[in-house]
Amino acid sequence: MTPEKKAETALHGDGAHTDAQEKAGRASTRRSFLKVAGIGAGSLLFVGAAGLTWRAVDGGVLASGTGEAFAAWGEAGPETHDALGLVRAAVLAANAHNAQPWQFRVSDNRIDVFADTTRNLGAMDPLFRELDVSLGCAIENIVVAAPANGKAATVTLLPDPTDPTHVARIDLHAVEASVSPLFDAITSRHTDRNGYDPARRVGDAELARLSGLADTMDTELVWFSTPAEKDAFGALTIRATKAIIADPEQVVDDAAWYRTDWNEIQAHKDGITIDPSGQSEFIRAISKVMPVSTAQNNAGWLAGTRDSQVPTASAFGAIVVRDPLDTGQRLEAGRLWQRLHLAMTVDAVSAQPLCQIPERIDRERSAGLAPDFGPAFAALLPADRHAIMTFRIGYPTTKALPSPRRPAREVVLS
Ligand SMILES: Cc1cc2nc3c(=O)[nH]c(=O)nc-3n(C[C@H](O)[C@H](O)[C@H](O)COP(=O)(O)O)c2cc1C
Repeated sequence: MTPEKKAETALHGDGAHTDAQEKAGRASTRRSFLKVAGIGAGSLLFVGAAGLTWRAVDGGVLASGTGEAFAAWGEAGPETHDALGLVRAAVLAANAHNAQPWQFRVSDNRIDVFADTTRNLGAMDPLFRELDVSLGCAIENIVVAAPANGKAATVTLLPDPTDPTHVARIDLHAVEASVSPLFDAITSRHTDRNGYDPARRVGDAELARLSGLADTMDTELVWFSTPAEKDAFGALTIRATKAIIADPEQVVDDAAWYRTDWNEIQAHKDGITIDPSGQSEFIRAISKVMPVSTAQNNAGWLAGTRDSQVPTASAFGAIVVRDPLDTGQRLEAGRLWQRLHLAMTVDAVSAQPLCQIPERIDRERSAGLAPDFGPAFAALLPADRHAIMTFRIGYPTTKALPSPRRPAREVVLS
């Protein structure tokens, strides 16, 4: 099944999409920066002290990263020498909009990984590129966690030609347990949306080392690290951000995964939350207690991208493949992103996927719009290579906070 067909099939009668439409009238936002730039401190004057306290509790202002929704981060240790222990590592993988589009069937010697296409991102990921990349990230965490759990993992991608949702079969063989630095990074890797240290560059040797982690024929890394390359990538990302904000369908489908309320976060254990948004503690606290309009959200996201995330990046990167519609190549790209982010975590380098450009390219393609970002980005890439995932890296200025996760037991098929 082609990605277009897969997406079309999933979108018909799809619960996530309906949710998105229901939420259209509510505050909407975006993963990369909480869009609250329009809120000034003076706004607090309008909030009565008692009301603020109540909403502070309701919004979880006082309890960042705690509760059931974050318990999965403490459940991935090497002490569990069974296959379910590996699913505990899988659920901590990076994934687009934190939609966690995965399910696992577990036996003693095998884990089968399935796409949960009901958790698609609608117009934000119309060709399921990000869904496949997210699944690749989960597969990689299983492979990295296997030795620590006394297993070696052999991965077969897309093992069943009759079932395109069956994205991987991972066979496990007993080995002597060994814990690697990458394994240790599984529980400390977090997407860092804060500004990065403008005084520290990630050196060429580190970029080359990261490039060396691409180990399949079809995936490779392209860096944008010179001032001219960074300007070109940054300008296109900012323009893509504006294009998304101007696209009502993308705005609605983006908002469907946004969670502000403490109880909502604890109930869903997924989505984009305020704490890892890259905003200051003060703005985060205000955002949890005050409703934010769509216009404020979007203004804040654009401002954050333009004034902090893009200008403080040490370098931008793209994972490119030969065929952007090939599910196997997308899964490999996801495996590579997870491996890269774990390796950067070990080296104390921060990273944030910044995928506005490919999101617009897919949107143009699926909605039949005039090609704009497709040709513009192709001009920055090697011939016959297509970007599956784009990101920024740099040295941190502050600690990145965790996102919620559904625990392994909620995503295992019986
Ligand atoms: C395919 C893909 C695309 C993503 N795109 C973005 C993006 O454009 N902006 C962003 O801030 N984060 C992006 N992310 C990061 C996810 O939002 C993040 O992994 C998720 O919220 C879970 O948080 P964690 O990585 O800190 O565990 C992307 C991740 C993946 C795998």
